[in-house]
Amino acid sequence: MVTATETSPAKESVHESTRESVKGTDMVTPHARQHAKEIQKFGTVIQRLPLGLSANVREELTAQLNFLLADTITLRDLYKKSHWQVSGPTFYQLHLLFDKHFGEQAEMVDSLAERIQTLGGVSLAMAADVAEMTRVPRPPKGREEVPVQISRLLEAHEIILKAARSLSRKAADLGDDGTNDLIVSDIVRGNELQAWFISEHLVEMPLINAQ
Ligand SMILES: [Fe+2]
Repeated sequence: MVTATETSPAKESVHESTRESVKGTDMVTPHARQHAKEIQKFGTVIQRLPLGLSANVREELTAQLNFLLADTITLRDLYKKSHWQVSGPTFYQLHLLFDKHFGEQAEMVDSLAERIQTLGGVSLAMAADVAEMTRVPRPPKGREEVPVQISRLLEAHEIILKAARSLSRKAADLGDDGTNDLIVSDIVRGNELQAWFISEHLVEMPLINAQ
């Protein structure tokens, strides 16, 4: 539940005096280093929104969407790690393919985060919070062989696909067609396509002589 911002009379007078001192004296200095209480806690939803969806439904779906967001941010970053650290005879094509998938995952991240905000929730954003919530296993900091890189990416895709399919069904059951459509059209289909493109690189295929 969102709590209203509390403004004490004392605080108001501080704001007033700040405004007064700026007025007429300085219109160019940025008012940096401001701090205040957060206006909406993570895990809450705005209670009344004209969307035709109850707060309970929106709270349940935004909670699940945040897990999917954490996994998608992790997969996005795993693609960039793979783009930078890839090696070997297929370096160039994988370097480009991994970056293409990174860009597409970045778009999915944005769609999921904005869906959470649309539903009145608070989207996860920062790396430390993502690390706490993601269900994708953490890779080592160092470099790994291409088949291992691709195996990790495929594992992340599968985690996301399973979670996305079950969340899309839940959204449909709860009457949230918008979330259902976003997940099926963008997340499920996008991840399936990317999984196909990279999994083909793990097939044992002779380069010169057919078997
Ligand atoms: Fe690059």
